[in-house]
Amino acid sequence: MFESLSYEQFSQDLEVSARRRELLYRDGRPFFVLLSQQFKRPDLELLCDTALAIRRLDPHRDGREFLRSLLRGLRIMNLFAQPSTRTAESFIAAADKLGASTRLVSDLRTSSFAKGESVDDSVRTLSSFFDAIVTRHPDDDFAARASWALARSLRPIPVVSGGSGKSQHVTQSLLDIFTLRQSFEERGGIDGKRILIVGDIARNRAARSLAYLLTKYEVGGIDFVSHRDYLPDDGLLAYLRGHDIEVGVHEQLGDFLERSGKDIDAVYVTRLQQEWDGDGSAPKGDLGTNEDFVLHWRYRDHLRRDCLIMHPLPRINELPEAWDDHPGFVVWNQVRNGMWMRAALFASIWGADEEIRARAHRLGLIDG
Ligand code: CP
Repeated sequence: MFESLSYEQFSQDLEVSARRRELLYRDGRPFFVLLSQQFKRPDLELLCDTALAIRRLDPHRDGREFLRSLLRGLRIMNLFAQPSTRTAESFIAAADKLGASTRLVSDLRTSSFAKGESVDDSVRTLSSFFDAIVTRHPDDDFAARASWALARSLRPIPVVSGGSGKSQHVTQSLLDIFTLRQSFEERGGIDGKRILIVGDIARNRAARSLAYLLTKYEVGGIDFVSHRDYLPDDGLLAYLRGHDIEVGVHEQLGDFLERSGKDIDAVYVTRLQQEWDGDGSAPKGDLGTNEDFVLHWRYRDHLRRDCLIMHPLPRINELPEAWDDHPGFVVWNQVRNGMWMRAALFASIWGADEEIRARAHRLGLIDG
């Protein structure tokens, strides 16, 4: 299928939902994980069930030993061309939970990329030594290009994006969905909930991926509050509206919260992505966002006490620490859920997920 497919065609085909599954899945399992749009709702339910099963098996010695036997012998390369704390470390911890070994390359100057080696040759070389590659890169299409090159090679291995330029951070949105699902468990799930996303939407891949993934639910609406320079792009807005999502776009956080805060079920705060003003590697100067896009503590009475407060981290000034004691603050749950969800994703890629869910179900740790 890939022999005669140019990268340009592959990239265009990823925009077409009917083609995406053929290109990114093998035997019904995710093989290349690049975009939120590639997941269907049943996929998300199974991933969340698997993540929950792993979380509940892990504290028991037998459960932990069982988990660690599942991917023993597999090797995963984490190729991170941009800084990361949570994503890199949680992918490593996730692999460890399932017994796979990992290597992290976080400075591409130490690899042959620095000598001008192409993406295609580099990832084909890595596929000789590893069973999957996790990538983070400032180029929007690095992970897609690596997937295409590997799909055409004699040793195709899975590629998981750990953050693609400004466009997508698909595994962050998976852990966000898991966090939303668990947090709304007693309140009817994600359906019907109204989500507010605040910040630099144009350049925040986590916010964009979450918005795409929320289209898999019958949410009660998505509102964006952003500076006019960083509003969601027309493509994202058209996609959301094309999926019958009620979308609001606003430029004043305080005014919006005063008017509609009590109707909001979760606020997802993001930082100003200053690194994109430079070369995409490290932010410089004053990193904080404009006061207008800070979720000030004084806004607390505009929100319900059960409203979730979320952030993909790292945070600068946009979510003051006073919020950490709010009953809806789930930011540290998001961080830990990153490990469980990334483990669930690895399990799904290598076909160990059904066994995990079955064992957890037998032990009464998850519902059937
Ligand atoms: N949320 C997130 O992607 O954090 P890191 O940049 O630390 O990986």
